[in-house]
Amino acid sequence: MATPTLNTRPPIPTWRSSIVLKSVMAVSGLILVGFLIAHAYGNFKVFSGQEAFDAYSAYLREIGQPLLPYSGALWILRIVLLAAIGAHIYAAVTLWRRNRGATAGKGAARYVSSNARRGHQRSYASFTMRWGGVVIGLFVIYHILHLTTNHIAPGGASGSPYERTVNGFEIWWVVATYTIALIALGFHLRHGLWAAFASIGWNRSPRVRANLNFAATVVAVAMILAFLIPPFAVLFGVV
Ligand code: HEM
Repeated sequence: MATPTLNTRPPIPTWRSSIVLKSVMAVSGLILVGFLIAHAYGNFKVFSGQEAFDAYSAYLREIGQPLLPYSGALWILRIVLLAAIGAHIYAAVTLWRRNRGATAGKGAARYVSSNARRGHQRSYASFTMRWGGVVIGLFVIYHILHLTTNHIAPGGASGSPYERTVNGFEIWWVVATYTIALIALGFHLRHGLWAAFASIGWNRSPRVRANLNFAATVVAVAMILAFLIPPFAVLFGVV
């Protein structure tokens, strides 16, 4: 009779269990999506002209005054966003390493798909989520240096957020860099939403799976179009 092997590894604490980490991915992802919806909506103020756009930017810094200091609410939002990004990346990396460890470094065929050459979506998902995540991270740094701090000022620096936005998006390659980053964000969102639906347990049949895939695609495309409308409106002289 074969001698049973003992698992000598220390048990994983509950807060680091895969189910908790999956929930962390979903909750932090939802916080980030909530920010994106509010941000995309706010960007449409560019169609209301310079005064309205700059007043909106100033208002974001005055929320909660005098209870909070100037920019206080904005700093709370920034800290929440940074915490959400940190938790999202930590949970993603831990789950990915656990998956590799459990499958002798090969990864597992988790999302079975008859469309994929290898019979599962691993290469598509890993490319979209990992490299897409890196592109989005680099974009956010570039974007803050461009439109918040204005250290990067293609088209000319300005104290007016409206002028910063319009000066930048009048240049085709600035719009191109944003478009590339937003396409990466779209793929990331589409797959992230789909994975969240699957984690919740909604992926119960091929028919439901097709509907969930469709819903994830619609949300991602709508979000990306909402973000891309203002830059292209500036580029084509509508704003
Ligand atoms: C083409 C679409 C976008 C436009 C036109 C745009 C516009 C702007 C503007 C004008 C600001 C400065 C606001 C101010 O200082 O009052 C800003 C800040 C910011 N944007 Fe965007 N944005 C776009 C896409 C995105 C995307 C896709 C993300 C995230 C993935 C993002 C994340 C941020 C962040 C984190 C800030 C800094 C907020 C802060 O700490 O002050 N933006 N954006």
